[in-house]
Amino acid sequence: MGGVGALLRPVAWNLNHRRDITSWLARWFPKTPAKPVVALKTPIKVELVAGKTYRWCVCGHSKKQPFCDGSHFFQRTGLSPLKFKAQETRLVSLCTCKATQKPPYCDGTHRSEQVQKAQVGTPP
Ligand code: FES
Repeated sequence: MGGVGALLRPVAWNLNHRRDITSWLARWFPKTPAKPVVALKTPIKVELVAGKTYRWCVCGHSKKQPFCDGSHFFQRTGLSPLKFKAQETRLVSLCTCKATQKPPYCDGTHRSEQVQKAQVGTPP
């Protein structure tokens, strides 16, 4: 027994299943990325080691500033860290306000009124 209903059931299940996967993907990988938020209002000095690869936090949610701790993914920001390789061993100032025009380096933008007036954890 079952007739046409039994034949359609797998199709309906597939459609629902596809819809579930699509909504899951949209939730975890949003098409419109969130705006980065101010993590701190001053840069952090870091000694980069030549040849080593770093992942600079772009979203501002990382608890390991100025580097990525995976928060961009778990907070579903749609953003990704900036991966870069140090060309030489040297002390640099890495941006934590996330408003720099020369990521990952501080360019002084944190001194702007826009960043100084922004609350930590909100977009500059
Ligand atoms: S900390 Fe972002 S520009 Fe200086």
